[in-house]
Amino acid sequence: MNKIILKKTKELENWRQNIKDEINFIPTMGNLHDGHKKLISTAKNSNFNINLVSIFINPLQFDNKADLENYPKSIDNDITIAFSNGADVIFIPSTVDIYPPNDNNIEYIKASEELSSALCGLKRTGHFDGVCTVVYRLLNLVKPKNLYLGEKDWQQLLILKNLISEKKLNINIQSIPTQRDFDGIPLSSRNIRLSKNERQLIRLFSNELFLAKKHFKQEKTMNLKKIIKKIESKNILIEYLEHLHPYSLQKATLKDNISILAGAIKCGETRLIDHVFLMKRSPIIAIDGPAGSGKSTVTKLIAKKLKLLYLDTGAMYRALSWFLIRENINYQKENELNKILRDISIVFKSNANANQDVFINDYCVTKEIRSQEISSIVSKISSIKEIREYLVEEQRKIGESGGLVAEGRDVGTTVFPDAELKIFLTASIDERAKRRKTDLENKDSKLIDFNQLKELIKKRDFEDSNREISPLRKAKDAIELITDGYSINEVADRIIDFYNETIPKEVQNQ
Ligand code: PAF
Repeated sequence: MNKIILKKTKELENWRQNIKDEINFIPTMGNLHDGHKKLISTAKNSNFNINLVSIFINPLQFDNKADLENYPKSIDNDITIAFSNGADVIFIPSTVDIYPPNDNNIEYIKASEELSSALCGLKRTGHFDGVCTVVYRLLNLVKPKNLYLGEKDWQQLLILKNLISEKKLNINIQSIPTQRDFDGIPLSSRNIRLSKNERQLIRLFSNELFLAKKHFKQEKTMNLKKIIKKIESKNILIEYLEHLHPYSLQKATLKDNISILAGAIKCGETRLIDHVFLMKRSPIIAIDGPAGSGKSTVTKLIAKKLKLLYLDTGAMYRALSWFLIRENINYQKENELNKILRDISIVFKSNANANQDVFINDYCVTKEIRSQEISSIVSKISSIKEIREYLVEEQRKIGESGGLVAEGRDVGTTVFPDAELKIFLTASIDERAKRRKTDLENKDSKLIDFNQLKELIKKRDFEDSNREISPLRKAKDAIELITDGYSINEVADRIIDFYNETIPKEVQNQ
């Protein structure tokens, strides 16, 4: 497509009327740096949509006149950077275009009170109202499918997410991690105003945040007052430094697995912000659901796409069932069972086909555990208290440092009740029986009776949902997805969208 520059809102409206393709929108205030380049190129490489970059210094979001007047401007350079990094269209309106005087149709927005009263909102009165007003105005003009924003302005990101959901706009927010310069400081258009000494201060500040993050991961604790004291001892003027819940921006508790340590410092006339996410362990996705809901295939695909460890808790119950049957163990007898469990080892190993094999006491049982014999007994065996306790403990050990997607029937309720994302995957009995039938017929090329399969699935559901310990149940905070009529890829992508909405990009794969 030919590169286009639009300068008037009328021009943009006329152009937009004739556009059928979907649009990625990257709003900026210009003076583009490597952080903007990353935003524009990420949008370009994500899909085949039209990439539209806006450059507009929004007076409404400046609480300080001098800051607005001194805001760095480099329009010719910005146009070159935007086009060479993947912009198809650049929109450069003037202030009267965006805010025509006497136009009663401009909607002035109040940012979420809850989200804007913390951090930057404390000192910058009206700043987020201004951000919301301009972004809402631009979104109404551009009508994009995706809005690309940097996680550097984390509070802004949350406030804009909230705006989009309150206004019920059908727009996805795509975020990118904070981009940092060679010396670790976050890239910002304001950085060019820093003297060498001021730059050194923000570098020390960012460095302290990173030390706090490392310490938190190791010790699972932090002392905010001590950190503030240490930073101030380096002659850094802190405007605020807060330890908050990353989504509500309320005070964090040490129970939170992910929290944010966010601060602003004054370097001369310039105010700079930075943050780190503190994590005790890497994120966990818990996927539960009944047999035939598509759990296994979907979970495997998600693990692959997000480069997470894949934990199939059902395979552990099946492996143990296989072992108990093969060794002819009377699993109803507590003593006998406890003796056996002490010496059991169940491990997963990747095989040559990039799939996972399951081993019990060094014996590979990947195929055997999928037999009809095991399917018919596993529910009963997995309802035994000693077995559940033993395997839940093993599963928690595997998930100790997180970074995994686990599937089963009680992952979100019992194994990892503090998982960051919980999904309850289900499908109608008919759909599940249909899938199971195709599965089994592909494997054994034997014809299977559909109604018989339906009865088996109903029986399994009943047993799983009615057992005393860890019954199959949707966790209170799980998202229910009914997969009838959706392809595996569609379901996996939906869950990945939830993951991206729940877990900052900055901490994914850390
Ligand atoms: O982050 C920014 O650059 C600005 O706040 C935005 C989103 C372009 C609105 O003016």
